Amino acid sequence: MPFYRRVGEIPAKRHTQFRSPQGSLYAEELMGVEGFSADSALLYHRNLPTAIVNAVAVPDERGELRANHPLKPRSYRTQDLKFGADADAVTDRRRLFGNADVTIGFVVAGAASPLYRNAAGDELFYVQGGSATVETIYGALEVGDGDYVVIPTSCTYRVVPNGTVRLLVLEARGHIGPPKRYLSARGQFLEHAPYCERDLRGPTEPLLGDGEDVDVLVRHRAGLTRYTYAHHPFDVVGWDGCLYPWVFNIDDFEPITGRVHQPPPVHQTFEGPNFVVCSFCPRKVDYHPLAIPVPYNHANVDSDELMFYVRGNYEARKGSGIGIGSMSLHPSGFTHGPQPGAAEASIGAEFFDETAVMVDTFAPLELGEAAEACEDPGYAWTWSGRGPA
Ligand SMILES: [Fe+2]
Repeated sequence: MPFYRRVGEIPAKRHTQFRSPQGSLYAEELMGVEGFSADSALLYHRNLPTAIVNAVAVPDERGELRANHPLKPRSYRTQDLKFGADADAVTDRRRLFGNADVTIGFVVAGAASPLYRNAAGDELFYVQGGSATVETIYGALEVGDGDYVVIPTSCTYRVVPNGTVRLLVLEARGHIGPPKRYLSARGQFLEHAPYCERDLRGPTEPLLGDGEDVDVLVRHRAGLTRYTYAHHPFDVVGWDGCLYPWVFNIDDFEPITGRVHQPPPVHQTFEGPNFVVCSFCPRKVDYHPLAIPVPYNHANVDSDELMFYVRGNYEARKGSGIGIGSMSLHPSGFTHGPQPGAAEASIGAEFFDETAVMVDTFAPLELGEAAEACEDPGYAWTWSGRGPA
């Protein structure tokens, strides 16, 4: 996480006695990543965070992943995926894509999730619509349309929708943060970064729950386990540090533009292990007098490129069947580019009213059950206008 934050009550000196008004010691917990060698937070619990009374293995029912073979550009309609009114944002997320570095899922949640934490890596939500309260041991986050929500590894949380909430969910095998090239040696955003500390939101006050024998579902490196805790895990009266859940809204991303076409890295918003996340936002487009505003054809040699179209009109994809909620997958090994006629049609445009979230992975993305359920089978042939002979 980029910068220091302090919420609730904490003692003046770390690792010293800190007592409740009744005189009992609060239980101090260090939440630290990369083996005490990177960001951390110190949390003060009313009860022992170690007190479990049961542990049960839970089946992981995400289905199989299938290779993108034969290799094809593909298009998906997440808007056609079906979810029950009582779907929750943890156990009902459906897997679209995955590899050893990241799992990409989607859910339309209408019910509160169980308490959960992902001990195998950070999670990143993109809120495509609706709103929710993300309750965490660090405090609550109110999230809505266009928010990215970064939830650090092993942060216990649950998602409580206000009505329904549509979420793209990335589960990383590692940590997700701003691109390092935008940060100073000490972690401050630099002047050329497209967003900065003022654009970020974090918990502001402790969130305290009540109850005994409380279940928490844990995704860990070997599967899923349900713990039962003697006390409610939301019992942190204060914390401080540089590791906590935070929110950044895509509308606060300041696009980097130029006289001629700018390459995808200018849109980069996050980096994770072997993948990046980019935000394509409404922007002034290329202003050289002879500029072609839509992208050139490109062979993304070392990455698979997944684009999630979330708002506006996506000029380069006109005529492809892609609409709001669609995703395109342009894999390494296939040169992709604008649909026929889009380059000519874009000449003279001054502004693109489009919003998209892109995930580029450096290892191939395999296809999950949700991708198979909502694929548009004709997409691969939309550049030629002809199907297989
Ligand atoms: Fe591309």
